[in-house]
Amino acid sequence: MRSDFGTTAKGERAALYTMKNQNGMEIAVTDYGAILVKVLVPDKDGKLKDVVLGYDDVRGYECGTLYFGATVGRVANRIGGGEFELNGKTYTLTKNDNQNTLHGGTDYYDKRMWKVEEADDSHISLGLHSSDGDQGFPGEVDIHVTYTLTRDNEVKIHYYAVPGKDTLLNLTNHSYFNLSGHDSGPVLDQEVMICADAFTRADEESVPTGELVPVEGTPMDFRMAKPIGREIQADYEALDFGQGYDHNWVIGGKGYRQAASMYSGQSGIEMKVFTDLPGMQFYTGNFIERENGKGGVIYRRRQGACFETQYFPDAVHKEQFEGPVIKAQEAYDTTTVYQFQLK
Ligand code: BGC
Repeated sequence: MRSDFGTTAKGERAALYTMKNQNGMEIAVTDYGAILVKVLVPDKDGKLKDVVLGYDDVRGYECGTLYFGATVGRVANRIGGGEFELNGKTYTLTKNDNQNTLHGGTDYYDKRMWKVEEADDSHISLGLHSSDGDQGFPGEVDIHVTYTLTRDNEVKIHYYAVPGKDTLLNLTNHSYFNLSGHDSGPVLDQEVMICADAFTRADEESVPTGELVPVEGTPMDFRMAKPIGREIQADYEALDFGQGYDHNWVIGGKGYRQAASMYSGQSGIEMKVFTDLPGMQFYTGNFIERENGKGGVIYRRRQGACFETQYFPDAVHKEQFEGPVIKAQEAYDTTTVYQFQLK
């Protein structure tokens, strides 16, 4: 179903596409920014809970700076120093996070109109043409993002792009999940499990140093599910630098596999995260400060948590990290799934 989602400051008309499945689950995506706006999941009492943070209309997303539900690219997360070298040439990007580039630089993919290529009751495909030199990156590329709501209560996000020249690609979804409902306050009592024995150590500006640190014996250990808030205040370098959890975990195994899970005892809703990528940023909304969100709700610090599947941050500067260089005419083809069930 397609409905009006308002008009941008430039006068572009945005639409909201709603998909439903036979279990009563519902999601909504807008063509502004290819943003995931709503995820409605039946809770243990059979009531629908919206489990993602967001805004009521396109203007909210236009003004927002927190990447609610956003499709982030060309390169999600940080590129240290705001420049990189590829095939002997130096490319300069916008420094929008201290001395570094975060989430592509200021000309964000989630602040542009995407083209709806297909839409029905269970999926929507959106396309964005990113030109040679866009955000400072080489090579033109047509990016396709498809959201599918499956019969198994999965929100499946498929990314596909074939660049014209060698370039960097690292797209992610920046949804903030709160499984007790977006309007329920901080997520600190919700449990998280991350399938990772190590995380990538980062400096004060959240740029990886290149070291992989075992999680064993640290507050970063989520191999067994635990409440997010249990150790978030611990005196630990990573937590000081990130003002809470804001790091990339090294997801165990290769290929498509589970990366994490989250659970709310209050709603009974569990979410499992799957990816075929090597890393995942687990970010606990440490920088949300009084944000006017959906339905008049004011979001506060740590009211949602992001599970951003990705190549490791700053991989372009770290030989030992895989990606994110995609060769000319080669496909960047990756899938992330957020699956919901009652536990
Ligand atoms: C980053 C955070 C940043 C946030 C923006 C995350 O991906 O790791 O440091 O503040 O995005 O909302």
